Amino acid sequence: MKMHIRLMAALIAFGVLAGCGERPPIETEQLGYRGTGMEQNRNPRLLQKVVAANQIGNIQPPADSSGPLAKDIYQNVQVLSDLSIGEFTRVMLSMTEWVAPAEEKNCTYCHNAENYADEGKYTYQVARSMLKMTREINSEWKEHVKDTGVTCHTCHRGGPVPSYVWFTDPGAGRENAFVGTRAGQNSAVTGLGITTIGHSSLPYDPYSAYLLGDSPIRVQGDTALPTGNRSSIKQAEWTYSLMVHMSNSLGVNCTYCHNTRAWSDWEQSRPQRTVAWYGIRMARSLNNSYMVPLTEVFPAHRKGPLGDVAKVNCETCHQGAYKPYFGQSMAKAYPELQGTKPVVTEPAMAPAESTDGATAASTKPVVAALTQPLSSGGGR
Ligand code: HEC
Ligand code: HEC
Ligand code: HEC
Ligand code: HEC
Repeated sequence: MKMHIRLMAALIAFGVLAGCGERPPIETEQLGYRGTGMEQNRNPRLLQKVVAANQIGNIQPPADSSGPLAKDIYQNVQVLSDLSIGEFTRVMLSMTEWVAPAEEKNCTYCHNAENYADEGKYTYQVARSMLKMTREINSEWKEHVKDTGVTCHTCHRGGPVPSYVWFTDPGAGRENAFVGTRAGQNSAVTGLGITTIGHSSLPYDPYSAYLLGDSPIRVQGDTALPTGNRSSIKQAEWTYSLMVHMSNSLGVNCTYCHNTRAWSDWEQSRPQRTVAWYGIRMARSLNNSYMVPLTEVFPAHRKGPLGDVAKVNCETCHQGAYKPYFGQSMAKAYPELQGTKPVVTEPAMAPAESTDGATAASTKPVVAALTQPLSSGGGR
């Protein structure tokens, strides 16, 4: 009997250990030069889930671009004013599939069935803004999205609320009165059902500081003595929090972008780091130009505990993949969503120190291979 209990305890302990997320075998792939330790670790079992979540949505057959313009037929077409009636209808059908597909949702998720020109539903107003946003991403943020681009499906994946959004976290209930404010640290939270920062004890809301505000992310000094560096360790912890979010969102390690012997040096970084630099500016701009201005439009039940709207971070589009859908493009099949937005507030600048990130690090289109099995094991 005693033996049985011991055996059971051992089995349970084994079961618990085996249940950990990082169950082997982990595969490793070398990205940089030999000896630089720029390796990617991946767990094929967990990767399968990410692959399942990154299947592209339905693509409607192409529409006739001749024919009268939708704006000349309908009463209230403000964004898609350059589309033919066929193209316009194609976009409406696709938006329905991508954002409001379930039985109780359809055209009337956004429209008043009595009058399609009516702007009464908040979803209609949000969707109009989202149309502008999507066109702006595809035309003004090519440094990030290239020609791959985005559609509504990139974020929405078939539902009205994207799976990964964030709200400003008030941190209520997590502060310890004895030690004063912890700047949201030292609690491995999974707050508000939002993306977490890898269950680390780093500050849990790096988004407000960096993807809404523009607090400085660079913290490393370039002199031996601290006199040359005004950044504190505390600031560095915020930077790390953002970096963990970025790594998690893309399903990559730090070395996907950095050479860890010189985090700050652009010349020793991989070109992907420059793309990420634009990604930070893009996410910040989308939140400030599109999401925040919709605050009064969204009903209270869609807002966070501080009354702020849901906002975008890296995971909203990437959903665990180094490129959304592992690089497959839906947007190419939708010239209607490419758009020609006349003005952009402020064109993104190149990173000041960036020469060509491609020179030092391997330019091998690495993780194109991430979804394929590795050719040979680690140990190079
Ligand atoms: C996700 C929200 C959404 C869904 C779902 C949607 N629409 Fe729309 N619809 C809009 C928006 C926003 C506009 C205005 C577009 C613009 O200003 O360019 C619009 C405009 C229209 C118009 C022009 C009306 C007028 O007189 O101004 C028609 C017609 C239309 N939609 C039909 C449909 C049909 C049919 C469906 C279902 C297959 C549909 N829509 C689904 C958001 C939606
Ligand atoms: C970059 C990511 C992103 C893209 C691209 C995007 N959306 Fe959204 N959308 C969001 C976020 C974030 C919200 C806020 C979620 C919420 O409602 O709480 C949202 C909300 C909405 C809502 C309100 C849903 C509700 O029930 O409250 C509608 C409607 C919508 N989007 C339509 C669209 C359409 C149509 C497109 C394509 C033309 C589109 N979106 C493209 C991120 C995106
Ligand atoms: C997808 C690319 C990417 C990944 C992955 C990534 N970083 Fe970064 N990292 C950047 C970019 C871009 C910057 C510069 C941000 C800026 O200036 O706006 C940066 C900046 C930094 C800095 C500040 C350097 C300085 O000049 O002070 C540190 C430290 C850092 N990252 C550490 C990490 C760590 C640790 C990880 C893994 C947990 C990581 N990064 C993962 C892209 C990445
Ligand atoms: C609006 C959707 C969207 C958001 C938000 C977004 N990305 Fe991307 N990202 C894309 C698309 C689309 C691509 C694919 C571009 C291509 O084909 O090269 C991409 C590509 C990248 C790449 C290049 C990967 C490679 O292997 O070449 C990096 C790195 C990256 N994103 C980092 C980020 C980071 C970091 C953030 C958050 C700060 C972010 N992205 C936010 C849509 C987005």
